[in-house]
Amino acid sequence: MMKHILCNWKMYFSYNHAIKWIDDHGQQLKELADSSKHTIAIFPSIDACAQVRERLNNKSISIGAQDCAPYASGAYTGQTQACSLQEMGLQYCIVGHSETRHAYHLNNETIAHKIEQLNKTKVIPVICIGESQHDHEHDKTIEVITRQLEPLIPFLLPEKNYYVAYEPLWAIGTGTTPSPKYIDTISSHIKQYVRTHCSSRVSVMYGGSVSSATITQLSESVEVEGFLIGKASTDFQELKKIVTLL
Ligand code: PGA
Repeated sequence: MMKHILCNWKMYFSYNHAIKWIDDHGQQLKELADSSKHTIAIFPSIDACAQVRERLNNKSISIGAQDCAPYASGAYTGQTQACSLQEMGLQYCIVGHSETRHAYHLNNETIAHKIEQLNKTKVIPVICIGESQHDHEHDKTIEVITRQLEPLIPFLLPEKNYYVAYEPLWAIGTGTTPSPKYIDTISSHIKQYVRTHCSSRVSVMYGGSVSSATITQLSESVEVEGFLIGKASTDFQELKKIVTLL
C-alpha cells in the first residue's frame, strides 16, 4: 500500500549542511522517489526550504516547513507567516510537534490558530499529537489524544486535507516503538473522533523512532497512511532502506 514518508530534519542541519546533503544525495533521492510507490516529503529548517526545493526541482518530492505562526501578520519577531509557505512552493507544514509545544509552551488553542492560518493556503497541516510516558503508563492515552484534538475540530474545513501525526512522546528519539496493535487502536480513535465531530477527513501518520530496524514491524499497522521520520531521515542510506522495506 502507498505510504507518505515525511522526513522531519528538525534542526540537525545548518543551511550549508542541508544544501550539501541535497547536492550529495539529491539525484539518488529523486530516483528513489520516482521508482517508489510511496510519496516522499522533506522538512528542512525554514532557512533551507526554498533552496532545497529549488535544487530538488522534482514533482515526486514535496517540501514542508516545520512550523508557522498562529497569526496572519504583525509584530511577531521570529515567526513565519503561513502564506509565505505557499509562496515558497511548500506543500506541508508541521504544527504542534512535541518539541515546539515544549520549547514555546504551546497550548492546543495556539495550535488551532496555526491551522486557521494554514486554512487560508493550499499547504497541508501535519498536526502532531501524542501522549507522554507518564500518560502512557497511567492509561491516559485516549484521554490526552482527545483533549489535544477537541479544540482543533472547529478549525478543520471539510474541503481541506489534514494529516494527523500520532507521535507518542516516549517513542520520539528513544528507539522504543509501540506495537502495531497499539498504533492501530489510537489511529482508529483519531479517525473516529474526527469523523463524529466534523466532516473533514484526516490521514493518520505514525512518528517516533521510525528506522530501518523498526519499519517492518511498524508497517503492520493497517490504520496509518504514512510515517513522520526524524533522525533516521537525515541519513540517506537509512532513508533509502526504510523506503525500500516499506
Ligand atoms: P525520531 O523523531 O524519528 O527521531 O524519533 C520523530 C519526530 O519527532 O517527528
